[in-house]
Amino acid sequence: MAEFKDISPNASAGEKLLNWVDNRFPASKLYKEHLSEYYAPKNFNFWYFFGSLALLVLVIQIVTGIFLVMHYKPEATLAFASVEYIMRDVPWGWLIRYMHSTGASAFFIVVYMHMFRGLIYGSYRKPRELVWIFGCAIFLCLMAEAFMGYLLPWGQMSYWGAQVIVNLFAAIPFVGPDLALLIRGDYVVSDATLNRFFSFHVIAVPLVLLGLVVAHIIALHEVGSNNPDGIEIKAHKDANGKPLDGIPFHPYYSVHDIMGVSVFLMVFSAIVFFAPEFGGYFLEYNNFIPADPLKTPAHIAPVWYFTPFYSMLRAITSEMMYALIACVLAGAFLGVTRAKLAGLLKAGVIGGAVVLVALMLSIDAKFWGVVVMGGAVIILFFLPWLDHCAVRSIRYRPDWHKYLYGIFVINFVILAYLGVQPPSPIGERVSQVGTLFYFGFFLLMPWWSRLGQTKPVPDRVTFAAH
Ligand code: HEM
Repeated sequence: MAEFKDISPNASAGEKLLNWVDNRFPASKLYKEHLSEYYAPKNFNFWYFFGSLALLVLVIQIVTGIFLVMHYKPEATLAFASVEYIMRDVPWGWLIRYMHSTGASAFFIVVYMHMFRGLIYGSYRKPRELVWIFGCAIFLCLMAEAFMGYLLPWGQMSYWGAQVIVNLFAAIPFVGPDLALLIRGDYVVSDATLNRFFSFHVIAVPLVLLGLVVAHIIALHEVGSNNPDGIEIKAHKDANGKPLDGIPFHPYYSVHDIMGVSVFLMVFSAIVFFAPEFGGYFLEYNNFIPADPLKTPAHIAPVWYFTPFYSMLRAITSEMMYALIACVLAGAFLGVTRAKLAGLLKAGVIGGAVVLVALMLSIDAKFWGVVVMGGAVIILFFLPWLDHCAVRSIRYRPDWHKYLYGIFVINFVILAYLGVQPPSPIGERVSQVGTLFYFGFFLLMPWWSRLGQTKPVPDRVTFAAH
């Protein structure tokens, strides 16, 4: 137990109260560690707004969600009408609902930008691996949260989207059909599914999400923030042990972040008030029709933030399986001939490849589509160990790395676009190439990240006062 600290009897009432609390709860200690004495690099740029914005959107979603639950009815015959009731009759209900639905898309925009920042500045690398891993787990939770939330208005897209995605689980060999049944709680998406998705959406997943966000920030504050130069500011400290290139988070970044929050809220409000459906991308038109289990919509597409992954799922046709088998064989060949592996490991690589190819030939392509879709997210967890470049930040990498990251983004956007379109032969081919590029980018990173001439990294961060 910490020593009990006495305070002068002449201290103000406020100081006495704080001392009383500090003797029982580390209020001042937490404030110092995480705000007034958390030294962040002074060269943060635009990309560093998105962490605090993600926190803001999290709060918006929780607060608006609490008010929605006061009027929403998680029951198949009432759900759609209860949402319409919120929109038309509940005072300010339309605002709460549109803030929540726009907030879902805003969350993904902000988090995708936040992840991209981590990617270009090498923020996932030692010693920030756990910050990144908690981030990836947050991303997974966010996807689950958005997917289950989308079922709740019980519109046509809610219903059929859930039907398509839950049916995918049935493609898993042996356990698939039982797993799909367990998720739905019925043989088709029904009231039972709505009830369990409601329960997960309003309490289970948000609890995990909140825990992960706390872990994410504790891990970050343990190791300290990276910055656009990718330099450790802790390497240069003053006589008091404070980083020379660091500034206290509060007041410098707390005030700085207000600017990001203001711009964000202007854009957010413009969408909420003037374009909440956002051309059918944030709220799909089909979802204004009540769910009808007897009428399948002509074109079922997930919301935009899932579509890059949905494209990858659709890209895995039985024809594509041959391309994937060729990749596995090429990978095994390279592993055996080029990598310095012990004899036993080489035999393991060959054996593993043979078993994998046999499975790929015998199990339906639909299952491999699910594996590829899941793998596209899981692979992100391994990024800290895939990147072998001598420097962290894109600023000091060979110029062509920038183009490669640029192509990666364009490819991701094309996959997202194709995912909202109805299937077409050309779209299928493009998404197959896009899928191979996406995985190639990560799986070949241990090789390509070492290539080329890196630029000299300065000793101290580059910063121009403004
Ligand atoms: C609810 C979602 C999230 C919240 C609230 C959140 C919050 C934050 C905050 C407040 C920071 C510090 C400020 C900043 O550096 O921008 C941060 C840093 C970071 N986050 Fe997140 N984050 C979220 C999701 C993610 C995801 C999905 C990833 C990656 C997969 C991620 C990876 C990182 C990394 C690597 C850093 C350190 C960046 C650096 O020091 O350069 N975060 N996060």
